[in-house]
Amino acid sequence: MMTEAQILDMLREVVHPGKGSKDIVSLGMVEHAAFEDGKVRITLAFPGRRDPLAEYLIGSARAAVIRNSPQGTQVEVETVVRETAAPKKKPALGLEELGQVRHIIGIASGKGGVGKSTVAVNLAVALAREGYRVGLADADVYGPSVPLMTGTEGALPEAIQDEDGRELILPVEKYGVKWMSIGYFSQPGQALIWRGPMACNALKQMILQVRWDALDFLLVDMPPGTGDIHISLVQEVPMEGAVIVTTPQAVSLADVEKGVNMFRHENIDRKIFGLVENMAWFTPEELPDHRYYLFGKDGGKKMAERFGIPLLGQVPLVQSIREGGDEGLPAALTDRPDGVAFRALARAVAARAEED
Ligand SMILES: Nc1ncnc2c1ncn2[C@@H]1O[C@H](COP(=O)(O)OP(=O)(O)OP(=O)(O)O)[C@@H](O)[C@H]1O
Ligand SMILES: [Mg+2]
Repeated sequence: MMTEAQILDMLREVVHPGKGSKDIVSLGMVEHAAFEDGKVRITLAFPGRRDPLAEYLIGSARAAVIRNSPQGTQVEVETVVRETAAPKKKPALGLEELGQVRHIIGIASGKGGVGKSTVAVNLAVALAREGYRVGLADADVYGPSVPLMTGTEGALPEAIQDEDGRELILPVEKYGVKWMSIGYFSQPGQALIWRGPMACNALKQMILQVRWDALDFLLVDMPPGTGDIHISLVQEVPMEGAVIVTTPQAVSLADVEKGVNMFRHENIDRKIFGLVENMAWFTPEELPDHRYYLFGKDGGKKMAERFGIPLLGQVPLVQSIREGGDEGLPAALTDRPDGVAFRALARAVAARAEED
């Protein structure tokens, strides 16, 4: 059993990042909070259907109650829309926001942990160093890694209203790149709890409800896996194609195929920009001229040939790439060999994008 006051206290932990960081209780958004039929029932009121943070706030409210309740407590969050001012006719949100973006490219893999986010972040920085206007959307709502990898944790993206009264989120800018991640809206180390459709909506918002303005490249760091979420993401965001990341192990073949198939799924026929072979060889810090091909040489090249797609680049396995990721200083900012590898990758991606 819980009282309304107890539930409201828990919900005071949920801050609306777009409203001067006030909590949802003070903002009057909690219309109903009670323990009923063996579960906690909450109703959140939104001034408009298009609050870009709606999915985030619903997830956070649920998480706040679960965190502060005995294990096994069930939580149900409903939402209502309360128009405050006279409802303005708002055009449907979405694709026109991306109208000024020339190339939208998914960074994908068939398997987790192959270095997708590392490649995505460094490719973004390297493209920016080549003079392109670049944005990166972190579509991994379960394990967003962009804030840490770019040293932008703690940034609070602002929500603004555009000329038509729609709410848009402003991306965070650093290293010449515009970054957006659901990670900016959660406390570090605090896992967000999503149900399938919510996760899907939240990540679409991270792409579609962001004021990217004019960009040459918008990279989308895809979440691990190749499930329904991915296919729906590729269908609903006008992605031109994909860069597939893999590691050289022979087992990766089947994974690459899964990654490629996401973009060549029934009714989806997107361009495969090509393959990136990450961890192609190992170079120890103290022997910078040595290359150890732990899993054999030219695995990436053979794989690319097999799928009939270009090999865009090879990235070595080096300690400095991992450290750069952990410290928020992407390797692509440097002119070390690993930085040079990302620059070469950026040029290959850009060249491929200019082919029709
Ligand atoms: N070339 C590399 N050299 C050294 N470390 C690397 C390299 N690529 C990735 N890593 C490290 O491997 C780990 C996993 O990388 P990353 O998070 O980029 O993978 P991912 O494919 O995005 O994972 P997930 O599937 O969980 O999203 C990180 O600690 C990262 O720093
Ligand atoms: Mg990742």
